[in-house]
Amino acid sequence: MTNLREMVEILRSAGEFTRLRLLALLAEGELSVKDLTEILDQSQPRVSRHLRLLTESGLITRHAEGAWAFFRLSDELESAALVEHILGRLNLEDELLVADRERLAAVRRDHQARAATFFAKVAKDWDRLRTLHAPDEAVEAAIQAMLKDKFFKTFLDLGTGTGRMLELLADQYKKGVGLDASREMISVARTKFDKAGLKNVQVRLADISDLTEYRDSADFVMLHQVLHHFDDPGIALRNAQLALKQGGAIMVVDFMPHKLEFLREEQAHRRLGLSHVQMQAWARSAQLEVMQAQEIPHPGPDDGLTVCIWHLTDKEKN
Ligand SMILES: C[S@@+](CC[C@H](N)C(=O)[O-])C[C@H]1O[C@@H](n2cnc3c(N)ncnc32)[C@H](O)[C@@H]1O
Repeated sequence: MTNLREMVEILRSAGEFTRLRLLALLAEGELSVKDLTEILDQSQPRVSRHLRLLTESGLITRHAEGAWAFFRLSDELESAALVEHILGRLNLEDELLVADRERLAAVRRDHQARAATFFAKVAKDWDRLRTLHAPDEAVEAAIQAMLKDKFFKTFLDLGTGTGRMLELLADQYKKGVGLDASREMISVARTKFDKAGLKNVQVRLADISDLTEYRDSADFVMLHQVLHHFDDPGIALRNAQLALKQGGAIMVVDFMPHKLEFLREEQAHRRLGLSHVQMQAWARSAQLEVMQAQEIPHPGPDDGLTVCIWHLTDKEKN
């Protein structure tokens, strides 16, 4: 229960033009101040002030990550219910809100295009580059150990790149499907599988943001070094969950929180790693449960990063 004074403050924080627009935007997913500033076309100090008020009233939460800060609607039950109620009463077809969503879509397309340009450039070299900051051998050994004795009818590798995961686990599925948004990555993967004569693997051009075609199609979904390319990894995880068949599981392999800011500029990263707390929250909202998490530190240089393997199962479908 919230006391009278606090409730007035909370309602005040939501009861303002820009702040209501911010709540409606954050209902579409986690966003950085930089993107919100661009979408609202207001100065950064102004947007930051509105975000601060919403954070102080508990309606949204802030997550600082290197030079950027990301915001999302609060997961705390009472705040989440209040925001849901307010947005439920709001006509989301209001011209201004529609325009905000259109600008949000344009911002997301722009990020996607930048990532695609990066991956198009590095596709041919990816098999060498992909191991630069990750303790790759140890990670692959840990993945194999976790999946030992498992056999999948359909193994779906989202953001497959050059298809390394399909290659690594080639003996453990009847049918392997790799999806990627980069034509160049797909083309390298396809050539590799053709050369190896692997007949049970397909690689296809597809965007993780729309997996309608792959709904309920896989008993295992892999997201290997993919989620850090999304502003809101939770949305990608929800989409992965939709692609699962009953009884299926998801494996997320990604960096733990780090400080290598240059990876944003140089390698199209959006998030500087993923924390256990974040993974729990994203999993919860995707009806998934974290069954196991194994951290693998980099044994080498200072800019070597710790990787984590999260094994998730579907609460509803299991
Ligand atoms: C860091 S690479 C990882 C590739 C591969 N999983 C590996 O570990 O080698 C990330 C891959 O995700 C793909 N990707 C990024 N955003 C995507 C999206 N929205 N839909 C599908 N693929 C995406 C990129 O094209 C790229 O191939």
